Amino acid sequence: MAFDSSDVWGVADLSETKSERFTSPESLDMVHRLRRESCAVLVGRGTVERDNCTLTVRRVELGDRKSQPVRVVVDPSLTLIGGEYAILRDDLPTIIYHLKNETSKTMQSDSVTLVEIIQPDDNAGKKSLISPSNIVKDLTSRGLQHIMVEGGPTTARAFLDARVVDRAILVRAPMKFGIPLPAKMDENTFRQSGLEMIGTTRMGGDTIEYWTLNGSPWPNPHLHLWP
Ligand SMILES: NC(=O)c1ccc[n+]([C@@H]2O[C@H](COP(=O)([O-])OP(=O)(O)OC[C@H]3O[C@@H](n4cnc5c(N)ncnc54)[C@H](OP(=O)(O)O)[C@@H]3O)[C@@H](O)[C@H]2O)c1
Repeated sequence: MAFDSSDVWGVADLSETKSERFTSPESLDMVHRLRRESCAVLVGRGTVERDNCTLTVRRVELGDRKSQPVRVVVDPSLTLIGGEYAILRDDLPTIIYHLKNETSKTMQSDSVTLVEIIQPDDNAGKKSLISPSNIVKDLTSRGLQHIMVEGGPTTARAFLDARVVDRAILVRAPMKFGIPLPAKMDENTFRQSGLEMIGTTRMGGDTIEYWTLNGSPWPNPHLHLWP
């Protein structure tokens, strides 16, 4: 995830109607390399609504990959269905996790799979929260083992709180938004999910922080060489 340099760790500018890139081209290339390394790229309903993102690998070559990573959206009430979102209409595979058995909401496109998560009653206090562990289990059962959670902050927070994150890459841009959307997280959020910061690098003016579960090693000893 990327943040501005304000105290609230801004993730988007509420004074802008359209989401603009705010990190360096080098950092954006890294995001696309990470997508390329991943079996699935996951976001929450809010990011699709606000950004109309495609989550595809575009800034770098696909390389040995035969296809784009699967897009995954967490949309508990299936709010997005019927909307004019690229992710629902570009015929690339997308999985949407939801909690409603809404037979009225179906997809015309064969590329979009709706997966209802049935949760045990012990989720009572958090009825609308889909357990990130259940999402990870389901994706793994589909052969999708490397999952990149790209945001937004609500989704990232749910995965961190569920302690299912092995690695986190934080991009800190040297600017402040006019009206920042607060990430509602800080270093403690990452530490409490079992992550430790193992180092930083500079990338086109941004500072990149690398965090891993219990400080375990990075896939490449030179942090900036992976992804
Ligand atoms: N700076 C960055 O790196 C970055 C990355 C991505 C997005 N963004 C920005 O973040 C903003 C959107 O933030 P956001 O927090 O609203 O977006 P979000 O995390 O993409 O979406 C939040 C919504 O997704 C659903 N959701 C996510 N995880 C869930 C779970 N485990 N269980 C149940 N529902 C879940 C909920 O939908 P319901 O409300 O329907 O229950 C929740 O309100 C946008 O402005 C976008 O541009 C920034």
